[in-house]
Amino acid sequence: MILVTGGAGYIGSHICLELLERNHEVVVIDNLYNSHPESLLRVQELTGKTLTFVEGDLLDQDLIRKVFEDYGITAVIHLAGLKAVGESVSMPLTYYHNNITGTLMLCEVMKEFGVKQLIFSSSATVYGTPDSLPLTESASVGAANPYGRTKLMLEEILQDVYVSDEAWSISVLRYFNPIGSHSSGRIGEDPAGIPNNLMPYITKVAVGHFPDLKVFGDDYPTVDGTGVRDYIHVVDLARGHVHALEKTAGETGIETYNLGTGEGYSVLQLVQAFEKASGRKVPYEIQDRRPGDIAECFADPAKAHLKLGWQAEKTIDDMCVDSWNWRKQNPEGYTGEKNASKQEL
Ligand code: WQD
Repeated sequence: MILVTGGAGYIGSHICLELLERNHEVVVIDNLYNSHPESLLRVQELTGKTLTFVEGDLLDQDLIRKVFEDYGITAVIHLAGLKAVGESVSMPLTYYHNNITGTLMLCEVMKEFGVKQLIFSSSATVYGTPDSLPLTESASVGAANPYGRTKLMLEEILQDVYVSDEAWSISVLRYFNPIGSHSSGRIGEDPAGIPNNLMPYITKVAVGHFPDLKVFGDDYPTVDGTGVRDYIHVVDLARGHVHALEKTAGETGIETYNLGTGEGYSVLQLVQAFEKASGRKVPYEIQDRRPGDIAECFADPAKAHLKLGWQAEKTIDDMCVDSWNWRKQNPEGYTGEKNASKQEL
């Protein structure tokens, strides 16, 4: 039985779908702070398979223990955590407590039950401002905000856990910029409030929620002056987790992998790709740079290909088509389904 913490979220729900399609049995713990139980109902509809959902928080260690007792967990994919860069600057204690303590609670219970296979959700944000590109896993790290520092600290904590007991099998997955949705358009990114990230904001402009996109700076040393990122389709990202889980089952060790495509796209290039894919105009207005942003970031994903047999396959057009398909079908996201589906689950 695979435990997916944060499994009701944007990335988590896509991972649960891929796990079920690969005939894994899945248990989800999620506190629903930034996710919707409706996503898991739809994952079950799409796959024709069932999973177990437990509403709860990793800070409740007795709850984690009960899940391990009740469901015979054999491995953990750990996604649960706060992840808004800007918010982390204003609420560092909340981020450190939630992300660090929550992970420690989880790992202690894993140790108690002798469950030592962990797939950990990290982020390219640990690289800070890259010294050179593309980024390999051996590039220097240095997070520039509390959120990124929680990920970096957790990577170091997991390294120490492995050194203390080499029976652990730990895969640290550094995500680049996940966008897109399952091709059905039934599950997707549904951030609460005003989206921080680029693609959910673009889709909300395209569907008429916002009048235009604010482009944070066009004076970076990049192809067109706007920020360049390595956008990866969320389904490719989800499949990277399944590859890591299946490839490292029965093995020991700790390895870090970049999950990106290896290609960078600027803000304006993504807007252009989205307009082509959706047939919708996305008006935009150039504004000042966003504090903390870097100019350019994209991965060298060769190690994941070599060691996990995984590489991203979907194109930027797929990402735009699928992002638009989700938003078109769900202009208000999962809202209105939250209470109903919790009872059903
Ligand atoms: C992408 C580009 C912006 C919004 C963050 C976190 C990272 C990960 C992914 C958690 C940048 C520009 C954005 C907008 C814009 N999250 N932009 N207008 O900042 O690369 O990464 O999200 O793991 O940790 O740091 O992603 O989508 O916010 O920004 O011009 O309204 O789009 O300046 O160049 P980012 P993003």
